[in-house]
This record gives sequence, C-alpha cells and structure tokens, in this order.
Amino acid sequence: MSRSAHPAGPRHADVLPEGHYSAPADDLNALDPKVWAHTVGRDADGVVTVGGIAVTQLAEEYGTPAYILDEADFRDRARAWRTAFGNDADVFYAGKAFLSRAVVRWLHEEGLNLDVCSGGELVTALSAGMPAERIAFHGNNKSPEEIERAVRAGVGRIVLDSFQEIVRVAHIAQSLGTRQRVQIRITVGVEAHTHEFIATAHEDQKFGIPLAGGQAAEAVRRALQLDGLEVIGIHSHIGSQIFDMSGFEVAAHRVVGLLRDIRDEHGVELPEIDLGGGLGIAYTSDDDPREPHEIAKALTEIVTRECEGARLRTPRISVEPGRAIVGPTAFTLYEVGTVKPLDGLRTYVSVDGGMSDNIRTALYDAEYSVALASRTSDAEPMLVRVVGKHCESGDIVVKDAFLPGDLAPGDLIAVPATGAYCRSMASNYNHVLRPPVVAVRDGAARVIVRRETEDDLLRLDVG
Ligand code: LLP
Repeated sequence: MSRSAHPAGPRHADVLPEGHYSAPADDLNALDPKVWAHTVGRDADGVVTVGGIAVTQLAEEYGTPAYILDEADFRDRARAWRTAFGNDADVFYAGKAFLSRAVVRWLHEEGLNLDVCSGGELVTALSAGMPAERIAFHGNNKSPEEIERAVRAGVGRIVLDSFQEIVRVAHIAQSLGTRQRVQIRITVGVEAHTHEFIATAHEDQKFGIPLAGGQAAEAVRRALQLDGLEVIGIHSHIGSQIFDMSGFEVAAHRVVGLLRDIRDEHGVELPEIDLGGGLGIAYTSDDDPREPHEIAKALTEIVTRECEGARLRTPRISVEPGRAIVGPTAFTLYEVGTVKPLDGLRTYVSVDGGMSDNIRTALYDAEYSVALASRTSDAEPMLVRVVGKHCESGDIVVKDAFLPGDLAPGDLIAVPATGAYCRSMASNYNHVLRPPVVAVRDGAARVIVRRETEDDLLRLDVG
C-alpha cells in the first residue's frame, strides 16, 4: 500500500489525509478483473453488468443492498480447484464462507466435498442433498447433539479438536454401533495471514491439539485405542488470506513428521492429511493471489517431498478453501444515500447497508475496493470513505477509496469480493434487515437467499 500524493479533485484538500490507500486508478470506470467476478463488465451505457444483466435492473427488481453472486464464476472456481487437485486429492469447500442450499447443489454438481462447522451448516448441507460421506464436520466445541446427528447421518469425517472430543465422539459412535472416521486437528506452531507467517508460539489458540510437548502424539495414541473411531488422518489449518506458501511448507513438514512418528510407534501409516483452507483472494488491485493449479502443484510437491524424506507413502491430501472459491464471485450493490465532504479530510458516502452486511472492515480492518456501478463518470477522483447506516462511527464498509467527484444520492455503487464472510457473518444490528443473495447466470437472476423482512424480525421476538 502506498500513501498517495495524487492531485486533489474538486472536493479534495490539497494534501490528502493519512490513510492506507493507493493512488486512484487512471480510469475510475475500469473494473479490475482481479477483484471482480468473471462475467462483470459495463454495457454500452456504462452500467455495470453481471451474467449479462445490468445492476440497475437488479436493483429495481431486488432492491438494495443486495449481494449479487455470479453463479458461472462460482462454478468455474469450484471446478478449477477440483481439476487442479485431481482424483488423488479432495477439495472440501468451507461452508462458513457462505452457505446456502443452491451453493450446496452447485458444489455437489461440480464434484466438491463440503466442510461444515455447526449443526446449522450440517442441516443445510444435508437438506440440499450433499451426500453425508462427502461432508467433514469441524468445530472446537461440537455439542453431543451435533455429534450424534453427524454420526447418525454418516458424515465422511469428524475433525476432532480436543481430548474430551476424542472420547465423546468415540462413545457416541460406539453407542450407535458404528465406527466414525475421524481426523485429528493439530496446531503446528505456524500462523499465517496474508503475506507473512510466523513459525513460533502459535499453539496459543483455541483450535486443535498442539504438536509441541507431544500432545498431538498423545491424542493419536488415545484415539487409536478407541473402538468407536477410525483414525484416517491429521488436520492442520494455519490461517487465512494467505498468499505466501512457506507457511504451508512448514506445516506440511511438521504434519508429516507426526505421521512418521505414528508409523514408528504404532506401525500405522495414516492415509490422509488435510492442510485446511486460508488461501488469499484479491480485495484490491494490490493483492496478487495464486491460481488453484499453482497452489495444488506447490502443496502436492511439498507433501510428496516430505513423505519421501520420511519414507512414508504419500497420503491422500485434502484442502478446504472457502474464501478462494466464493469470495471473488459476489459483490454488494448499494444505493448512495448521502454524500458529505469534510474539508481537508475526505468525503463520507453513506449507503443503505453497512456493518450488518459487511462486518469485516470494522472487525479486521479489511480493505475493499468500490466502483460507481449505475453509470460511468469522467469527473475527477475524490477520496471517499464508504459508510453504512448504523448508529456507530466504526460502521465503515470501505475505509479509503476513490470514486468520481460527481457522485450523488441515488447512484448505485458496488463493492467487489464480498462473497466470503459477509452474508455468513451478517447481523441484524439496529434491526437492519439482512440483504438477499441474488444469483445471476446467463442473463437470468434468481434469489437464492431472500431479503429479511420486518415480519422475520417480529417473528423471533415473541413478546
Ligand atoms: N478450514 C478450517 C478448519 C477453517 O477454520 C477455515 C476458516 C477454513 C477451512 C476456510 O478458510 P478460508 O479458505 O475461507 O480462508 N471470518 C474471517 C475468516 C475466518 C476463517 C475461519 N476459518 C474473515 O472474514 O476473514
């Protein structure tokens, strides 16, 4: 990120304020394909289109704010991951990024598996026809009811996260007269975020069982003794929005080291390893994510090399991308309500949604880009902060970005790369209604998650 010293537009101070922003793009009307879904473009009138439909038409039919999801792009990305890893590996889409029944059906059709981390996600997956054996069940505190439901359904694997859970799942499986396939989630002392990773001291977190101090080895020892469990492998997830593969390299080295120790102690070669998700996407033009085939090649090479070194058969690899599949496929469409220039600072643009439909900026200081979507403009760029309608100053959607200086109430603006962790983390703060998810494909749009209504709010409030 560079600090900009770009010439000020008409509503600018001469010196731009502090902030994390790059200079405005040469052409504010251009849509960088890195951050926009595959079928997004502009029509002859300059209106942004997706799947062949103009956003002005989508806004008219479905209202704003709305998450607009490019189904063809979702399927393309899911397929790209599937193809990249081939038949000797499994791709589990991480449902926490965004889950709906339509998405489950697309994943099923494209040959992906699904990672769920609650009873609610499990029920969504099963109700949309995902075969149970293609579901992995995660979570650091699954309730006994959730575990029983997952075992009864016949999920392909439960990822065990603690010593208590090893016993709990074994007991439930045994009492149901079955043997549950499980992986054991370990922490390898690596934490990775965006461009950097740290390879010390990150056992200090709630997930997984630390490799350090022999705890992970002890967990495997106990699990192997329990009749209710079939231990199929080891799981490691090192972080999120990762661009640098070196964190995975260290993780794979340590997981394979554990597999070797297990072989040496128990004479058992566990057949699978799961390296989790966390692969990064472009939120702004400054981000440069890797393609699935590069990631697959790198991970496969790392694991193969490590296993050769340990004289182990290479286990079946699985990965759990969420953001990297759904993130880039959707944008949020908002209508501008007010435009408030603050002299010497920036212009505040208020939209009809906010932190209830995208908490990531407030929660993680996440960076997003934004574009004027209902028209083009040749006006000078102005530095804006896109804010929501909530009663909170931290209600920011896009912290620092440039929009044309003639932006006005009634314009539609779109924030790209909101497919992951926006609808799934949406709230009702201020009793603002959660937006719909509209899927667009080949000139047709349909609602896959409808807009919340005031009736929905009142139905939960039983007086
Ligand atoms: N597998 C496991 C075990 C995970 O815990 C996660 C994410 C994933 C896979 C998927 O990670 P992805 O490929 O989507 O990065 N709310 C945060 C992200 C939390 C991720 C939690 N675990 C955000 O908005 O950035």
